[in-house]
Amino acid sequence: MSPRKVIIDTDPGQDDAVAILLAFASPDELEVLGITAVAGNVPLAFTEKNARIVCELAGKPDTPVFAGCDHPLSRPLVTAEYVHGKTGLDGPNLPDPTMALQEKHAVDFIIETFRNKPEKTVSICPLGPLTNIASALLKAPDIASRVEEIIMMGGAYFEVGNITPAAEFNIYVDPEAADIVFNSGIKLTVMPLDVTHKALVTADRNDAFRRLDTKVGIATADMTDFFERFDKEKYGSSGAPLHDPCVTAYLIRPELFSGRKINVTIETGSELTMGMTVADWWRVTERPANATFMNEIDADGFFALLTERLGRL
Ligand code: RIB
Ligand code: CA
Repeated sequence: MSPRKVIIDTDPGQDDAVAILLAFASPDELEVLGITAVAGNVPLAFTEKNARIVCELAGKPDTPVFAGCDHPLSRPLVTAEYVHGKTGLDGPNLPDPTMALQEKHAVDFIIETFRNKPEKTVSICPLGPLTNIASALLKAPDIASRVEEIIMMGGAYFEVGNITPAAEFNIYVDPEAADIVFNSGIKLTVMPLDVTHKALVTADRNDAFRRLDTKVGIATADMTDFFERFDKEKYGSSGAPLHDPCVTAYLIRPELFSGRKINVTIETGSELTMGMTVADWWRVTERPANATFMNEIDADGFFALLTERLGRL
């Protein structure tokens, strides 16, 4: 079976970086057509640079990296340096990139890719705020019918919010963009906090990364060591939740995950619950199902896959 063609849209971010490394380590399953950076965890100037740093860490300097939107559709940017550090990739000491950033805007790359490739042959994996995706859909509504699937990290229901009591970060930063994506009619698979908070990098799992004793293994251990301090203190958890790698792991081994196809509607009116993913888990409304919303993961299987694949880079 030929690998699935994907665009990874991202705001690296240590967990984004691990998700990208997992994709690069799985060429039989995934062909990364390009990486599009968006403002989120840190400003765009850092996310596009970090995307190139990760490409070079993976030994993939020929991967085209594009800079996208530097602020949400209609509200000021909110960032998360308190989690990811000033650069967004604090933890490991990685060299500045030498590969060039593409001239083309990320939104134009997304539009041109879906117009030029046969329809339903390319998927997009948003790992940050949905600003680039929504901007592409606004500029070129015709591409919606050509997207094979959107597999994204974002939202929360039973796990509630991580940036406000009601909202998860990626959705909260640009709720208007999320509303456009969740109403696009595109096949949508969502990895919310309900499932990513079950993918915790315990000390043993972090040690397994480090025991790979490779540049990638050690960098991954250093990234998750840095990234976890905030969540461990906040939740008292046994390690960092590896949010974004759930997206690429799903594309490689979907059987590791389970959830429900339900309606998910984005709060864009109330400031109190702005960005909440209102998931009709018990199907109590007539609102049409628009997303497969994951809530279970085989965490041991996930980390075994991740560690084995990272060992290949
Ligand atoms: O809420 C977690 C999400 O926000 C992850 O994608 C993390 O990288 C940040 O973007
Ligand atoms: Ca992210």
